[in-house]
Amino acid sequence: MDLQLGGKTAIVTGAASGMGKVIATLLAGEGVEVWAADINGEGAKATVADLVAAGGKAHAATLDVANRTQWQALAQSVLDAAGKIDILCNVAGPGAKTGHLDTDDAEWERQVSGHMTGVFMGCTTVLPSMIERKYGKIVNMCSFTAHGIVSNIPGYCAAFGGILAYTKDLARFAAPHNINVNCVSPGNIVTPMTRDGWLDKPGAMEALKKSMPIDRIGLPEDVAYWFAVLASDRAKHVVGIEINVSGGQLIS
Ligand SMILES: NC(=O)c1ccc[n+]([C@@H]2O[C@H](COP(=O)([O-])OP(=O)(O)OC[C@H]3O[C@@H](n4cnc5c(N)ncnc54)[C@H](O)[C@@H]3O)[C@@H](O)[C@H]2O)c1
Repeated sequence: MDLQLGGKTAIVTGAASGMGKVIATLLAGEGVEVWAADINGEGAKATVADLVAAGGKAHAATLDVANRTQWQALAQSVLDAAGKIDILCNVAGPGAKTGHLDTDDAEWERQVSGHMTGVFMGCTTVLPSMIERKYGKIVNMCSFTAHGIVSNIPGYCAAFGGILAYTKDLARFAAPHNINVNCVSPGNIVTPMTRDGWLDKPGAMEALKKSMPIDRIGLPEDVAYWFAVLASDRAKHVVGIEINVSGGQLIS
């Protein structure tokens, strides 16, 4: 099935690594002109070099998703270059390693701002131009942790709970403007975030696989396909949903 994404423009955050990088790669492969943004500007440049080498159209941007000024500069540069922002994929966010008793105020703030505030700032920065053109697709990264089924990562869970509620509230507001807002909630996916300090430990990958309802472990591609579908007009009648890509870790 052709997703008919050729000629669209997209901003993808978190594009230096993991799922953001794979989403950017998939969209560029479908003919989307991609702005790959990340707080790790060198990483974003490396992603773009790969996309361009593969024949795609892509640009790198250094962006802290919790910085409004940087968001405005990025959106303006896309509008100056292409005249439109069709797609926003809010993927960036920091990993969490602290629990209820050792999450200090700074770590709580890092989780909430790096995830939830970042999504809010990204959406509100691109909305005016999408409303003006009466066209837009926003796909937010969410997580199975939004449902409180993973314990002892307080800031991370709270931030994704907020993203889930915000996505639905924004979806209702944006739908009359022909803007589709949805989110994707992965379970545990193998990326640099989960490898670091967890899945790279001996036996950890096998233990995760054993704990999975489905007999496999989630990969970035499993999640990226859903971003691409929700970013396309194939999903034009899909508004305010959460796609659960958890291999059964989240069954409600
Ligand atoms: N890996 C999982 O199991 C999993 C599951 C559900 C949700 N998530 C979420 O998916 C997103 C992508 O995670 P990943 O697993 O690909 O991790 P990753 O560490 O490979 O990639 C995250 C990227 O976000 C960037 N980033 C972090 N803070 C940022 C900020 N303030 N501004 C801009 N960029 C920033 C990092 O530099 C990195 O490139 C994250 O929001 C993560 O919380 C991950």
